[in-house]
Amino acid sequence: MAKIGVFDSGYGGLTVLKELRNKLPEYDYIYLGDNARTPYGNRSFETVYQFTLQAVKKLFEMDCELVILACNTASAKALRQIQQKDLPLISDTKRVLGVIRPSAEILGEFSKTKHVGILATEGTVASESYLIELNKFFPELMVFQEACPIWVPLIENNLHSSEAGKQLIEMHLKQLLEKSDKIDCILLGCTHYPLIQETISSFLPSNVAVLSQGEIVANSLKDYLERHEQMKKVLSKKGSILFYTTDDPQSFENKATVFYGEGVVCEQMRLA
Ligand code: DGL
Repeated sequence: MAKIGVFDSGYGGLTVLKELRNKLPEYDYIYLGDNARTPYGNRSFETVYQFTLQAVKKLFEMDCELVILACNTASAKALRQIQQKDLPLISDTKRVLGVIRPSAEILGEFSKTKHVGILATEGTVASESYLIELNKFFPELMVFQEACPIWVPLIENNLHSSEAGKQLIEMHLKQLLEKSDKIDCILLGCTHYPLIQETISSFLPSNVAVLSQGEIVANSLKDYLERHEQMKKVLSKKGSILFYTTDDPQSFENKATVFYGEGVVCEQMRLA
């Protein structure tokens, strides 16, 4: 019963899970949201690494053979260390993948001006992971980042549609576009942001495309499984899904619908 684990600091990864289930419905998934310790965006590298490692180990214990860090902050601050340092000591066959590389692999294709914007948490921006990854695939691309530290708390607390919330969304978009007026493509580099995609688009000129990661990550995983026959073979295929949160399951069930698009049944899991 080898499953696919999907991890996020809270609800954001549900926007990725939704697309994974659309594209790859046959697999068995376990979603884990570390809602008790969200947001990760402003936390130190060490803390995000420790929290993410705990989650990955727990998902491995629960028979996940593959874990997707459906969180840019965790992908930026913990993935490399986990892949290089921890995974070789844990297992020869288990794998951990993130969301930054799949996004960086295709982002340049969406821009005519070769000027793109990245909206993300402070942690993701400070890690420069997007700059590094994009430079590998599209060295000619001009990349402008904007950290939006308040957006995740706004979204998690359902305040993004309030007047104050909209002002805070508009403020960061203005700040991003002030960095370059040639930006014609913006990546939502935080898995929470698809929830405010419409509001974001409403504040942008119509020639600016806004990309969210769910479908990108789902396509990338499909491709990965085609290229990794052994992993594909070992993953169980009963189409099941289990949801866990480190905080109150009732609150998770109440809020998750907005991110996932349908009702969920959730249990609590302790990580520390
Ligand atoms: N959803 C996470 C991401 O993609 C971050 C949220 C947080 O700050 O915890 O970066």
